[in-house]
Amino acid sequence: MLPEILTTMEVYSLCGVTPVVLLLLLLLFLLITTWSQTQSSHIPGPCFCAGLGPILSYSRFIWTGIGTACNYYNNKYGSTVRVWINGEETIIFSRSSAVYHVLRSPHYTSRFGSKRGLECIGMEGRGIIFNSNILLWKQARTYFSKALSGPSLQRTVGICVSSTVKHLDHLQDMTDPSGHVDALNLLRAIVVDISNKLFLRVPLNEKELLMKIHNYFETWQTVLIQPNIFFKIGWLYDKHKKAAQELQDAMESLLEIKRQIIHETEKLDDDLDFATELIFAQNHGELSADNVRQCVLEMVIAAPDTLSISLFFMLMLLKQNPKVELQLVEEMSTVLDETAMENVDYERLKVMEKFINESMRFHPVVDFTMRKALEDDDIEGTKIRKGTNIILNIGLMHKTEFFPKPREFSLTNFDNPVPSRFFQPFGCGPRSCVGKHIAMVMMKAILVTLLSRYTVCPRKGCTVSSIRQTNNLSQQPVEDEHSLSMRFIPRSQNQSTISSE
Ligand code: HEM
Ligand SMILES: *[C@@H]1O[C@H](CO)[C@@H](O)[C@H](O)[C@H]1NC(C)=O
Ligand SMILES: *[C@@H]1O[C@H](CO)[C@@H](O)[C@H](O)[C@H]1NC(C)=O
Ligand SMILES: *[C@@H]1O[C@H](CO)[C@@H](O)[C@H](O)[C@H]1NC(C)=O
Repeated sequence: MLPEILTTMEVYSLCGVTPVVLLLLLLLFLLITTWSQTQSSHIPGPCFCAGLGPILSYSRFIWTGIGTACNYYNNKYGSTVRVWINGEETIIFSRSSAVYHVLRSPHYTSRFGSKRGLECIGMEGRGIIFNSNILLWKQARTYFSKALSGPSLQRTVGICVSSTVKHLDHLQDMTDPSGHVDALNLLRAIVVDISNKLFLRVPLNEKELLMKIHNYFETWQTVLIQPNIFFKIGWLYDKHKKAAQELQDAMESLLEIKRQIIHETEKLDDDLDFATELIFAQNHGELSADNVRQCVLEMVIAAPDTLSISLFFMLMLLKQNPKVELQLVEEMSTVLDETAMENVDYERLKVMEKFINESMRFHPVVDFTMRKALEDDDIEGTKIRKGTNIILNIGLMHKTEFFPKPREFSLTNFDNPVPSRFFQPFGCGPRSCVGKHIAMVMMKAILVTLLSRYTVCPRKGCTVSSIRQTNNLSQQPVEDEHSLSMRFIPRSQNQSTISSE
């Protein structure tokens, strides 16, 4: 907003317009902005202060990251806060009743973000995650829903177990001379392998792809709410543009291989994988090639960007809570005894589910979700105008309502059934996480396989609260030095070691 004003001013002064005109323009600007301020001044939040408020709140979002800024504003002004992002009015909610209202309503199925930024990462009007073209989003979502439920959900366990076993068998590849394993990258490798086997099924170079996924995510975080001027500054923008392009190109080549495989296969399985379904949709003229590439890209990055980091935090939390580890191992030995992992009755792993839930509550990776109002609305007395940006601060909601020990890690938080509106790690309603069911199955299968063979030991003094983290688009550890590596200690043979055979 501001840079645009500056440029118009520059244009005017270039044309030799008198300062009087400039002054008049400024006055007009102030009038308009004060008027828009009085419209919604009943919502708590930083003051408009003649345009200073929007600049300051926007700066905070850019510099500290979206997640950090949301927590700051909710802690300072309460559970409903009005701020501005890129000059646009944005309301942050952290109370469960408001969050639940937005999640379930059909009027908030859009998201917000910089148009130029989303174009840079290929998400503008394409794919699913940040696609705000409602028709195209709905179409894409159908393919995602199908691929993430039903038959593929049943195949998931077997693939998760075998992929985890395969990577654990090659643990030495990820172990440094001091015996520490780069746990986060191990989990990413497992997860990307699983995603490939479920949705794409082409041979790929895991390490290279993971690098590109990582850089793509960095770009996503960087460009998502940048002002338009950012995209005109070559030395700032070019490297991000390049990182986004690299993953898109990699996806195009993987899809090319996939098309070749389909072409050469005489008879395809009855249940087609995600990529095949999309390629057929493209052949029938239902989806564009660009959209197909973006959908596959988003399916491949979804789990490595969220699930692997969640699992990493879980491993750390487990070490900080040895009693919980004991409970888990005991449960595993009763439920899994003498059964092959693939046939495990995951429904019976109650302690495991509590542990996963409590981990996602206590130390979430996805802390908030971004939406846009498609209609005028009234949320518990807060007037929402069509087009308003909405952020649901779900992470903070989980720490301020309902749970008996909100600020502690304790499985007792899930001893009593939790009414769904108080616990929404994946969101709910029409724009919820489309992978929520498969994500739970994947986390259980990977954890069970890993924990039945190994107990992990992070570096001394390394806890989820002590490691450096950022919270821009999601909450993630800063991956410098070796502070994140862990030792993997085989469980002694008599201690409920469960073989996968
Ligand atoms: C621990 C793991 C995960 C967490 C915590 C998580 C959480 C979330 C959340 C909070 C949202 C936003 C929902 C909303 O706006 O209401 C989301 C969206 C999404 N998630 Fe997940 N997710 C996880 C794993 C996955 C996996 C494994 C997949 C796919 C394989 C996936 C695919 C998606 C997609 C495609 C969307 C966008 C949906 C849309 O905009 O229509 N997620 N996720
Ligand atoms: C994320 O936020 C941190 C501040 O916590 C900032 O230093 C970092 O540069 C941000 N990263 C990106 C990619 O935006
Ligand atoms: C864990 O959370 C999910 C919601 O994500 C809920 O359906 C389930 O009942 C919870 N499990 C336990 C054991 O509390
Ligand atoms: C495993 O074996 C060791 C000795 O070999 C014994 O001290 C320990 O109690 C055993 N653990 C279990 C769970 O049986």
